[in-house]
Amino acid sequence: MERFDAVVIGAGAAGMMCAAEAGKRGRRVLVVDHADAPGEKIRISGGGRCNFTNLNAGPQNYLSQNPGFCISALRRYTQHDFIALVERYGIAYHEKTLGQLFCDGSSRQIVDLMLTEMKRHGVTLRLSTAVEEAAHDGEGFRLRLSNGSVHCRSLVVASGGKSIPKMGATGFGYDLARQFGIPVTETRPALVPLTLEPTMLERLRPLAGVSVDAVVSCGKARFAEAMLFTHRGLSGPAILQISSYWREGDEIAVAMLPGADLFEELRAARARNGRQALQTALAQFLPRRLAQLVAEAEKAGGNLADLSDKALRRIDEAVNRWRFKPAGSEGYRTAEVTLGGVDTRALDSRTMAAKAVPGLFFIGEVVDVTGWLGGYNFQWAWSSGWCAGQAV
Ligand code: FDA
Repeated sequence: MERFDAVVIGAGAAGMMCAAEAGKRGRRVLVVDHADAPGEKIRISGGGRCNFTNLNAGPQNYLSQNPGFCISALRRYTQHDFIALVERYGIAYHEKTLGQLFCDGSSRQIVDLMLTEMKRHGVTLRLSTAVEEAAHDGEGFRLRLSNGSVHCRSLVVASGGKSIPKMGATGFGYDLARQFGIPVTETRPALVPLTLEPTMLERLRPLAGVSVDAVVSCGKARFAEAMLFTHRGLSGPAILQISSYWREGDEIAVAMLPGADLFEELRAARARNGRQALQTALAQFLPRRLAQLVAEAEKAGGNLADLSDKALRRIDEAVNRWRFKPAGSEGYRTAEVTLGGVDTRALDSRTMAAKAVPGLFFIGEVVDVTGWLGGYNFQWAWSSGWCAGQAV
């Protein structure tokens, strides 16, 4: 049986970072992945440009049942450490918005960076290799792989979450945690488009493809970003962000003209030119198709002069205090991440080691630490992977 100091299950962002770091420390490391290519989610991320971190990443940008858990790892390996690595490889990047850093070229550069790091530090990578069985034998772990058996002192689970099953995502990491008696918190799709009831969807159908800069809130969570109407419901960054906080039955509030008092604006427009059509007045503030739909919904229609203050208030409400209950979400099929996962109370926040099972580690998305949209999830993968890499 082949022997390794550490076996990492999953050649994603977290697994590759962990393996390269452990290799750097002289450990004999094997990375196995059932996919036939490494870092597939890195490759498709950020529209092919990989939003690899965020300048402002900090604990406040993560959801977890144990919110303080991520502090240590994010401090030990920060966004600035990863940026320095990207710069050492001469990869050009830019800030798109809100601290989000993207490659100028291609996300493939980040995959290649991690592959080069692993190679430089002697890591063995085996693709198209499934883990069929894992067992503790007192001294370490015995793994039955689809192409042989291996033994290791440290086993690192970096198999990601359930999002995008089409790409091979499974609940493998959660099952393995349970096998070793480690609790797993409830998992659900996050950073995911929301769907609408058929009647509302029908009413909003003409808006498919329209995007507005909105403030979207659910409970205390609030995001000011773009919102997109789609054929199935709502998407865009503001909706993806709020989806991580939304639960079935919750109401979502949307301001489609945040910061503006539409009632006062329309009143002023009516005083200036009462013969102006409502739709024309609204189109100064809103995308044309949205202005048309809002005007059509106000059945009195016609010119501003025909509209009472009460009607103008109703329009203001519809635009800036729109409240609705989503029907659901698009699910793991399109979710960017999985919320929940391996219960962090069972892990050491400095090393990601399972407290009750010596030598077993969980890193990246499989852990109950979920970032906002904007490079935060990769930063968690780099930080947690780096920490485990120092400990295996
Ligand atoms: P990841 O899922 O990357 O890797 C897990 C690996 O384990 C995979 O290679 C998989 O094949 C392998 N595996 C799974 N089960 C296995 C098994 N049983 N045996 C062997 N191998 C197994 N985040 C961000 O910060 N910026 C961004 O721009 C984006 N963009 C983005 C776009 C899209 C479309 C998605 C779906 C997601 C994003 N994300 C993102 C989220 C980000 O991709 C995600 O958080 C990280 O990839 C998680 O890294 P991990 O290494 O934990 O898992």
